[in-house]
Amino acid sequence: MRIIRAKDYDDMSRKAANIIAAQITMKPDCVLGLATGSTPIGTYKELVAAYENGDLDFSQITTVNLDEYKGITRENDQSYYYFMNDNLFSKVNIRKDYTFLPDGMEPDSKKACEEYDAIIEKVGGQDLQLLGLGHNGHIGFNEPAEVFKYGTHCVDLTESTILANQRFFASYDDVPKQAYTMGIKTIMQAKKILVVVSGKDKAAILKEVVEGPVTPNVQASVLQLHNDVIIVADEDALSLL
Ligand code: F6R
Repeated sequence: MRIIRAKDYDDMSRKAANIIAAQITMKPDCVLGLATGSTPIGTYKELVAAYENGDLDFSQITTVNLDEYKGITRENDQSYYYFMNDNLFSKVNIRKDYTFLPDGMEPDSKKACEEYDAIIEKVGGQDLQLLGLGHNGHIGFNEPAEVFKYGTHCVDLTESTILANQRFFASYDDVPKQAYTMGIKTIMQAKKILVVVSGKDKAAILKEVVEGPVTPNVQASVLQLHNDVIIVADEDALSLL
């Protein structure tokens, strides 16, 4: 694992965007695995700025996202599809039909997951996978568990996640209770993995991920076994290492 120290969130975003930009420059038709959440928003902003400056071309890029809620439409502003469109896809010259997320509106979980794994296989797997880090060490929606799940699968969201999400929806009943996520094998097959981490509240879990044992209780610890992982973290996130 290589750790790149950033001064703060903005510096982390610039450094992470530079790594993605280098990947796109070296392989203009590469497959990027992408993440949602608050941490990569600054990275996407930097990529959009590089595109606007004429430094980056997304016209041959394919993307596969980590996860999507089950049962909400793409038009719903809480869907990850909406997030990606809002933060990146609508702002660069990417071909929309080459951007993939699990199909949240497919009610048959087995079908949705098998189809998504087939898409990832068909595009040849991720050249670079961007990840955020959950406070409990989750990556994608791979929550602490007894085992590492391999392929794309359906997860039941914990009650605390559902309650935390409730503020974004009209009522409790409207909050998604499940999500589709890439599995650990799907993530680990990426040629290169880039993790962005920011903030004091991530310091304890980042220490466990980097220095602790490899365990499904801290799913991101499995990244220690990958041979090309770059963690770009700010000083607050690195404060316990
Ligand atoms: C996002 C995802 C999640 C987040 C993680 C960190 O697609 O799968 O694993 O990366 O929850 O979220 P933030 O960046 O909001 O702290």
